[in-house]
Amino acid sequence: MTIVITGATGQLGRLVVEALLDQNVPAGQIVAAGRDLAKVADLADRGVQVRQIDFQDPASLRRAFAGAGKVLLISGSEPGKRVEQHQNAITAAKDAGVGLIAYTSIANADHTDMQLAAEHQATEEALVASGLPFALLRNGWYLENYTDQLGTYLEHGAVLGSAGDGRVSAATRADYARAAAAVLLRDDQAGKVYELGGDTPFTLSELAAEVGAAAGRAVTYQDLPVGQYTEVLVGAGLPAGYAAILADSDLGIARGELLVTSGDLSRLIGRPTTSCGTPCGRLPEPQQAGSRGQAKGPTTAGERTPVSEGSQASPAPSHTGPHAPASKVAGPTPC
Ligand SMILES: NC(=O)c1ccc[n+]([C@@H]2O[C@H](COP(=O)([O-])OP(=O)(O)OC[C@H]3O[C@@H](n4cnc5c(N)ncnc54)[C@H](OP(=O)(O)O)[C@@H]3O)[C@@H](O)[C@H]2O)c1
Repeated sequence: MTIVITGATGQLGRLVVEALLDQNVPAGQIVAAGRDLAKVADLADRGVQVRQIDFQDPASLRRAFAGAGKVLLISGSEPGKRVEQHQNAITAAKDAGVGLIAYTSIANADHTDMQLAAEHQATEEALVASGLPFALLRNGWYLENYTDQLGTYLEHGAVLGSAGDGRVSAATRADYARAAAAVLLRDDQAGKVYELGGDTPFTLSELAAEVGAAAGRAVTYQDLPVGQYTEVLVGAGLPAGYAAILADSDLGIARGELLVTSGDLSRLIGRPTTSCGTPCGRLPEPQQAGSRGQAKGPTTAGERTPVSEGSQASPAPSHTGPHAPASKVAGPTPC
């Protein structure tokens, strides 16, 4: 029986496939599914099965899930369309008679009011209604939502947000991927709910201090009213609706809704989670840090910095100063 990974053409999904291979799962038992199979051509060369799917195309999902023992449904990246898309995947998994469907949800999905959580909550309800055996991987924020913005933080000497003194339990995609692989490889996972996040939550003030200390320069956190932060994100090029969702997510952090204290992630991966200090301790050279949009955090994740769940924007270089409008400040890409 195969294990199908949706979103395998994306950053998290690729890391899950790699984690399964690291755990000596035969490549031929893994199905890497996504829209753009060119992104997984190298995995196909290594013997991984690759199948084209579009969440909007139920037939493609049925084809990909045929013969699958387990499916990891990685949430899609098109907010607003995801309830229907995920429902299509759940229906196809049921039609295929899979033994388990694991879904990457959002931390604290059962009690968060974050706008971003609504589609995850609806998907969890659809899983319950399906009657399928399912496991929930309630992922917290990616650490890369911040580390991808290191160059911008250094350029402006500022981290912007509306998270107040709230703490966020961010963890790397690689750690979430290892946890997903662990769940896929275990028996008796039906009905399990994992609240996943980094071991050491931090405030955005602490993040700024960490970045500043690693770079040997002053970096401060500037907490903005949510409307102003939304404007900053729009000024940085994000669509208004998406900017509002991201700013709202910071309010969720302020309320403690991306704080995870379960310890589930480190237990699943069998070691402490990767800390903020680890990637921040490998900052780009200061002279390289000023190039706008080049802020590649030296993180463990993939190469893209998509503006989706969790990615933020930051101040434009022509408006430096304490209240500089953002060019590309980090914000989470949608969970
Ligand atoms: N916790 C967080 O902080 C956070 C941050 C960002 C995102 N997320 C969520 O976690 C998911 C995985 O994160 P990521 O960083 O791996 O995102 P990513 O790199 O953007 O990957 C998204 C994946 O979803 C696939 N996808 C999107 N729309 C699809 C559709 N209509 N049909 C089939 N596949 C589709 C993409 O396929 P193609 O590339 O082939 O088009 C890609 O493989 C995201 O999609 C999002 O729901 C969470």
